[in-house]
Amino acid sequence: MAEDTYTIFTGNIIHCEKLFSIETLENGFIIVKGSKIVAIDQLERLEETKKNLEISKWQTVTLKDTQLLIPGLIDTHIHAPQYPNAGLGYDLPLLDWLQKYTYNLEAKYSDLDFSKKVYDAIVRKTLGYGTTTACYFGSLFRKSCMVLVDSVLQHGQRALVGKINMTRLAPENYLETPEESITETETFINDVLDKKSRLVKPIITPRFALSVELDLMKKLAVLASKYNCHIQTHISENCDEVCTVKKMFVCNEYADVYHEANLLTNQTILAHGIHLTDDELKLLSKKGSSIAHCPSSNSRLQSGLCDVRRLIEYDVSVGLGTDVSGGHSPSIIEAMRSAVDTSIHLSYGKPDYKHINCYDAFCLATLGGAKALSLDDQVGNFKVGKDFDALIIDMDVENGAVDLLQSCNASELLQKFVYLGDDRNVVSVYVAGNKVK
Ligand code: GUN
Ligand code: FE
Repeated sequence: MAEDTYTIFTGNIIHCEKLFSIETLENGFIIVKGSKIVAIDQLERLEETKKNLEISKWQTVTLKDTQLLIPGLIDTHIHAPQYPNAGLGYDLPLLDWLQKYTYNLEAKYSDLDFSKKVYDAIVRKTLGYGTTTACYFGSLFRKSCMVLVDSVLQHGQRALVGKINMTRLAPENYLETPEESITETETFINDVLDKKSRLVKPIITPRFALSVELDLMKKLAVLASKYNCHIQTHISENCDEVCTVKKMFVCNEYADVYHEANLLTNQTILAHGIHLTDDELKLLSKKGSSIAHCPSSNSRLQSGLCDVRRLIEYDVSVGLGTDVSGGHSPSIIEAMRSAVDTSIHLSYGKPDYKHINCYDAFCLATLGGAKALSLDDQVGNFKVGKDFDALIIDMDVENGAVDLLQSCNASELLQKFVYLGDDRNVVSVYVAGNKVK
């Protein structure tokens, strides 16, 4: 969109105004200038708003009755190099799955042509499903991670991209020394910052406690502080993993290791967190670190049921993650469904337990994700001043996932989207005001 022209979207608008409350505008408008939202209101106040903002030049996008304008979806945890394995190899739990399937695939990313092919595919696929922001684990290889950065920039997605740090536990050809780990990570950070993109940032990515020694984790924390970087890793996903961490480190709990290494900051996002204790949750809450809830992966790898309600009660920020290829699907729409299912399963036999519903899952996939990634000053909902990251959803597309055989109001359209939607229903995708699908 040209900077000096305005675009006015009119129709059904739904967003998570604050956690966990939904604002629905059945007949609403949003005015976008450049990358930013400059107004949102009921249609009857459009003329008055145009006058107040002295808008003389504009274009209009008018939504149909079967369409909805919603904020872009946020994937807080996805492994780009694992995409070729999506839907494969769910016969083993985490630690065996990593050894048998995952490290061997990731080791192939020393090949930059292969990297380009996969990364273009995963970025286009996730954008197609409406993921406007993705928090990516890359591979161990710095140059391959830059290929991922280039794919993201080329296709116009908002992203955090991390080069994995890993000095042990994997095959010889897929390990680095602690010295290499630090120098390659710092070079990667500088290379990404040199792109001078508002949308793509580097993120420090020690794979998980079992992959790196404490001293390296401490040095990575120093880098995070030097460059004011986000940090991502995995925590408490699988019971054998938790036991092994407790044997390998001097600690009471898994989270103590990251705490000791100074890796728990208010820009840290930890994937899974299924088996965290009350004390660990208190620690994460105090530190402002967040959880990427990856319900599909937790089922596929038989890791357990993560209780999102409990995380929220401890005031820990939560977003949704696909965790491809621990999760089978690159779709956050699927992750919303899976989050609802997990919560319902946790509620069986507990009459006082309030499971999350499709609207809560929508909040997690939008504003929840933005808060978890500390990007809620920029994205997550349609507050004036934020970037316009948005989707036009149509629940009545020919040959689509849904046969819309009766008229639905805006909230019913959202229900249908969460329970039945797929990429065919995501008809337009905007990131920072740019139409990218
Ligand atoms: N823990 C350490 N590495 C991984 C990974 O690649 N996927 C998942 N799901 N958990 C991990
Ligand atoms: Fe993961």
